[in-house]
Amino acid sequence: MVQLTLPKNSRMKTGKTWPKPEGATNVRKFQIYRWSPDDDANPTIDTYFLDMDKCGPMVLDALIKIKNEIDPTLTFRRSCREGICGSCAMNIDGGNTLACIFGLDEVKSKVIKIYPLPHMPVVRDLIPDLTHFYAQHASIMPWLETKTNRPAKEWRQSIEDRKKLDGLYECVMCASCSTSCPSYWWNGDRYLGPAALLHAYRWIIDSRDEATPERLDQLEDPFKLYRCHTIMNCAKTCPKGLNPAAAISSIKQMMVERTV
Ligand code: SF4
Ligand code: FES
Repeated sequence: MVQLTLPKNSRMKTGKTWPKPEGATNVRKFQIYRWSPDDDANPTIDTYFLDMDKCGPMVLDALIKIKNEIDPTLTFRRSCREGICGSCAMNIDGGNTLACIFGLDEVKSKVIKIYPLPHMPVVRDLIPDLTHFYAQHASIMPWLETKTNRPAKEWRQSIEDRKKLDGLYECVMCASCSTSCPSYWWNGDRYLGPAALLHAYRWIIDSRDEATPERLDQLEDPFKLYRCHTIMNCAKTCPKGLNPAAAISSIKQMMVERTV
């Protein structure tokens, strides 16, 4: 997981510090970003302490314990608790990842620092606003486009062609990669970012799809595709072990090949 340097926010204030659990001998300290649109106040960092002997193994277990037993106002997204839905992505110990599959024992720092995904508008606490991210995903037409008549039963695919989708279809749209990418931070309004481009490539190389020229035409743009500078944060941070930079590079290669 890539370590990100979070911008220092001089207005970030230390918030509330909650008491340590009584009698606990195995305690860890959590510092968590807090912001609410209901208050006309700047973000703060609240401090919590948990008895690790009474906490599950994952960072999400700790967040749920804090919410259930200490501070019900703490807000975060989560659903599946097994790295499938992509909703619990956040910045933990300086890197973007999924809280439900990131172990507390993987956090090497003494204090466990948890922030929302970087460089996104915040809805509340650890919840980023992903409206633009999802719109970019929709823009690459994330579905099978066909022109020939629909087959009687199903669109067939050889085992070999199906294998080309491995390393792509597993993406859970958590946004960890795009929000770790400096190019996306700077040009996220026009650069599609690693997640959307990985999905674009997933459909471009699907042997059943019949819209490859249109898909490539749509990406032939100085910003949408070519703002990738192969910084590689995306591949380093992806909690599913995927490599969006390689997918982007393959699209660029196809662009070159179709012009020669
Ligand atoms: S490529 Fe990885 S980091 Fe990026 S959205 Fe998909 S699962 Fe998340
Ligand atoms: S809760 Fe679904 S990926 Fe973490």
